[in-house]
Amino acid sequence: QAEITLAMIKPDGYYHIGDIIAEIYKAEFRINKMKMVHLTKQQAEEFYAVHYGKPFYNNLVDFMSSGRIVALELSKPDAIQAWRNLIGPTNFEVARREKPNSIRGKFASDGTRNAVHGSDSSENAKIVESNFFFGRNSFKPVALF
Ligand code: CMP
Repeated sequence: QAEITLAMIKPDGYYHIGDIIAEIYKAEFRINKMKMVHLTKQQAEEFYAVHYGKPFYNNLVDFMSSGRIVALELSKPDAIQAWRNLIGPTNFEVARREKPNSIRGKFASDGTRNAVHGSDSSENAKIVESNFFFGRNSFKPVALF
């Protein structure tokens, strides 16, 4: 029975979007929804509100509003755990050392720039994160190159 998760390709991961989407299909996820946006700082603050006050918060919201990101609603059985396995550990050094073939193992470049995001629970995936991107249309369009 399919579960959904919210995946995000962060501004640094955007440069590897082809490889990342290939990994998504190789792992037999379905892409239900996909949207490319440029978050305002305020929207990045809202998405990561749970981390407000942590030492990495300001860097994180600056980074997440610095370029284009791609949000994807993925589905497959046990999607949340499957996506977390595919992306690897949050910390880029741990990812490189212990899961070199994971998406972060290959593409993360520092503590903040870790290429991708994945929901940590079903509640978060559906009610908070998927709704954040797909429940409305109040995003500024990405700047053209
Ligand atoms: P993500 O899984 O999107 O969730 C929070 C993000 O904050 C994380 O990936 C990183 O991009 C960033 N971050 C930076 N430093 C830390 C840290 N020490 N612990 C957790 N997340 C961090």
